[in-house]
Amino acid sequence: MKEIKIEINIRALRYEELDEKDRKLIDAAKEATARSYAPYSRFSVGAAALLANGVIVTGTNQENAAYPSGTCAERTTLFYANSQSPDQPVDTLAIAARNESDFLESPIPPCGACRQVLLETEQRFHQPMRILLYSKNDIYVLEGTKDLLPLSFGSEYLK
Ligand code: THU
Repeated sequence: MKEIKIEINIRALRYEELDEKDRKLIDAAKEATARSYAPYSRFSVGAAALLANGVIVTGTNQENAAYPSGTCAERTTLFYANSQSPDQPVDTLAIAARNESDFLESPIPPCGACRQVLLETEQRFHQPMRILLYSKNDIYVLEGTKDLLPLSFGSEYLK
């Protein structure tokens, strides 16, 4: 028997400790939550993607009466960014979420399906995508999807 341990690295910073570029992206993700369509969960998620050319693209969760037809903010944002600018790597993705009273006390973890889409975005552009998970307290900073989706299935297995 062999035990395999996979280490992930997350830095937890306060908003004030982030540089201006990251703060701006977090602000964009927070602002985006106001444009969420979440009449069923009342849980509003916003994401902001900083593209390599400096453009910031935002997106939100979009729900549907047929629940599985809805989409998370991360996928809305990355699919839109990749549709509009298919040649632009995503440098950083910031995610923020709020319920009806306020933003969350602990960082919002993307769902499993979104993690898989984050991974694909990285792989298609051959460079790590930084991820910022916002909360009112700590903000988690990850240097790539390897710290969010260890032991991942990607295109390399299809070769
Ligand atoms: N949601 C996101 O947009 N991103 C996540 O990472 C987790 C969940 C959305 C989906 C749904 O509209 C609502 O939050 C409640 O699950």
